[in-house]
Amino acid sequence: MIERVPLAHLPTPIEALPRLSQLLGGALFFIKRDDLTGLGLGGNKTRKLEYLVADALAKGAKTLITTGAVQSNHCRQVAAASAKLGLGCQLILAGDEPEEAQGNLLLDKLSGAQIFYSSKTTRDQVLQEKFNQAKEEGLEPYLIPYGGSNTKGAPGYLNAMIELSGQGLQPDWIVFASSSGGTQAGMILGAHHTGYKGKILGISIEHDSASFSTQIAELVNQTALELRYDWSVTHEEILINDAYCSAGYGVLTPAEVEAVNLFASEEGILLDPVYTGRAAAGLLDLARKGFFRPREKVLFWHTGGTPALFAPPYSQGLLQG
Ligand SMILES: Cc1ncc(COP(=O)(O)O)c(C=O)c1O
Repeated sequence: MIERVPLAHLPTPIEALPRLSQLLGGALFFIKRDDLTGLGLGGNKTRKLEYLVADALAKGAKTLITTGAVQSNHCRQVAAASAKLGLGCQLILAGDEPEEAQGNLLLDKLSGAQIFYSSKTTRDQVLQEKFNQAKEEGLEPYLIPYGGSNTKGAPGYLNAMIELSGQGLQPDWIVFASSSGGTQAGMILGAHHTGYKGKILGISIEHDSASFSTQIAELVNQTALELRYDWSVTHEEILINDAYCSAGYGVLTPAEVEAVNLFASEEGILLDPVYTGRAAAGLLDLARKGFFRPREKVLFWHTGGTPALFAPPYSQGLLQG
């Protein structure tokens, strides 16, 4: 049994999306609301953090240190988890310091995180330097990698699949935003654990499917090894669609704008501009092309990120017309 520190409001609800289903015609769409995991305005990272933080505490950590973009949802949830547990928090944010702290960055600051800025290319180097420095200063740091995607965090979505299996919906497809791979790796482990027979389709936010599926397969297999599963996957078994990420990470295109507006105006569901907006744009495109068969059950797994709606440049770019 792996240790877990409860941080999330679980189980997250599953809701039908009748208006979207009618609009698209054919498949039946549902949504799993991991935007409602609660901690610091919620999101998928909280599920990984339940396990990462357990490992940190077991190792006697007093400070959590991690990295992400300036509008990182992961960093926001690490900052909130640190605050809740009375730990220090250092965030290395890749990008320039904005004049005004908005969206996720505002929430990082409210949670009391110490913030450092770096370029995207030096991000991991600065992370390591800050970790070494914190260690020398006796701050007992625990390093969480980008996105919390390692063998310690992946069980968060293994647990989520166990949760799903008890919620009465057997989706034919699970579709969601996949970026550092920990969510998808955990789901695949969970599918194995629960006997889930549907398909797990990650919409890639920034990586091509060839390299990304290899990276995810490695994470699945390393985690499986640590969990003593006598089982492994190959990269061919990992389903990634990379057709929607060519604009680059965090770049808002008309497809994300349409998806964010459609989910909000038809279903009252708030997506985010970077991850769930892009994944939903992929979902809509696939549905319109007849990718899903009539009456198939398609579960869109909302992974959170809503605070970025309130940060420039997204806040200005989202309104249509
Ligand atoms: C809102 C949101 N959705 C999806 C993802 C992707 O999850 P993963 O990095 O585990 O692939 C992230 C990662 O930062 C995220 O913030």
